[in-house]
Amino acid sequence: MGFIADRLLRIKPSPTIAMANKALMLKAEGKDVIGLAAGEPDFDTPLNIKEAAKRAIDRGDTKYTVVDGTMELKKAIASKFRRENQLDYQPNQISVGTGGKQVLYNALTVSVNPGDEVIVPAPYWVSYPDIVNLCEGTPVAVTCPENNGFKLRPEDLDAAVTQKTKWLILNSPSNPTGAAYTAQELRALADVLLKHPHVWILTDDMYEHLVYDDFKFATIAQVEPKLYPRTLTLNGMSKAYCMTGWRLGYAAGPVELIKAMGALQSQSTTNPSSISQAAGVEALNGPQDFIPKNNAVFKTRRDLVVGMLNEAAGIRCPVPEGAFYVYPSCAGAIGKKTPQGKRIDTDTEFCEYLLESVGVAVVPGSAFGLAPHFRISYAASNETLKEACGRIQKACAALA
Ligand SMILES: Cc1ncc(COP(=O)(O)O)c(C=O)c1O
Repeated sequence: MGFIADRLLRIKPSPTIAMANKALMLKAEGKDVIGLAAGEPDFDTPLNIKEAAKRAIDRGDTKYTVVDGTMELKKAIASKFRRENQLDYQPNQISVGTGGKQVLYNALTVSVNPGDEVIVPAPYWVSYPDIVNLCEGTPVAVTCPENNGFKLRPEDLDAAVTQKTKWLILNSPSNPTGAAYTAQELRALADVLLKHPHVWILTDDMYEHLVYDDFKFATIAQVEPKLYPRTLTLNGMSKAYCMTGWRLGYAAGPVELIKAMGALQSQSTTNPSSISQAAGVEALNGPQDFIPKNNAVFKTRRDLVVGMLNEAAGIRCPVPEGAFYVYPSCAGAIGKKTPQGKRIDTDTEFCEYLLESVGVAVVPGSAFGLAPHFRISYAASNETLKEACGRIQKACAALA
């Protein structure tokens, strides 16, 4: 028996982070690599948020805080939920952690017993099934193919529910597809969930603000208030507020669950950085006008990438509603041969070919549970995206 505990055998290092690191390493070796694997905005954190952090340091907000968030931040989060989602959460229903990922980890760890099932619509964000695995739960992937808009259909949800189902995880807009559920689509899922009162809903709304073409964001507890007592609504600062490095995320839900999450955090990382929390208050209470400005830029990039990818041989790229990802199919490249005579059998091999032949790093769809696809993050400049998509076109044209 090795030294490492058995539970670690159930997880793998995040494949998106692995690909992003591979691109960074190749770059450091002097290779001409364009990295489109990482899931973070390229915009800097807005100035008013940075200034709030500096003020926090200067006034000595540099000590431990309440484990699951300062009262000031919890109040700012409560007013965000009221203002933007018409949801009423009291501060004792809110838990703040070191990134949305930690909050998700806390929620699953305190609630999933060995053998419990967690329904995860696929394609999924890579962390959902692995955290469930770490908890000795069973992730139940439900395939949501492109012709369903990469979204969970009510009948597929109904068929996936068993007596062992503990959670359904929803993520809208989605990482990796950018697909987002309309209020009407959530309504139809809510009708199924009302039939299964033992199933709780974890909705990951991390990309809430990143929607385009007048798409109207909705979240399930808002659409069906009867689900409020068994919904955990998760969100954070990383994406819309361009604060990935500040490590701040939060969730709101039933007091008992929130309390348990706080207890776990008190025995792991304690509070998120006091300085980040002060910045988070400013992010939520301060001006929000940079969000539509950033979104206008993201939308231009999305359209550029979708247009150019659809001109690449063997690639088909649908237009996503939100986030900053596209999830094209590379089915048309499968079975073809590279100029070196190597047959491409999987999306992983296709992505390796892109990296090796034209130096573009993207993440294979098999990492997200739906192949043959790949994920491109378009959080990069127009010039970079043009160059990257041009290279992908060239690589695809060279396949025979
Ligand atoms: C769908 C989704 N949820 C949650 C997170 C967690 O973000 P963070 O831990 O930076 O708050 C991410 C980050 O990539 C994500 O894509």
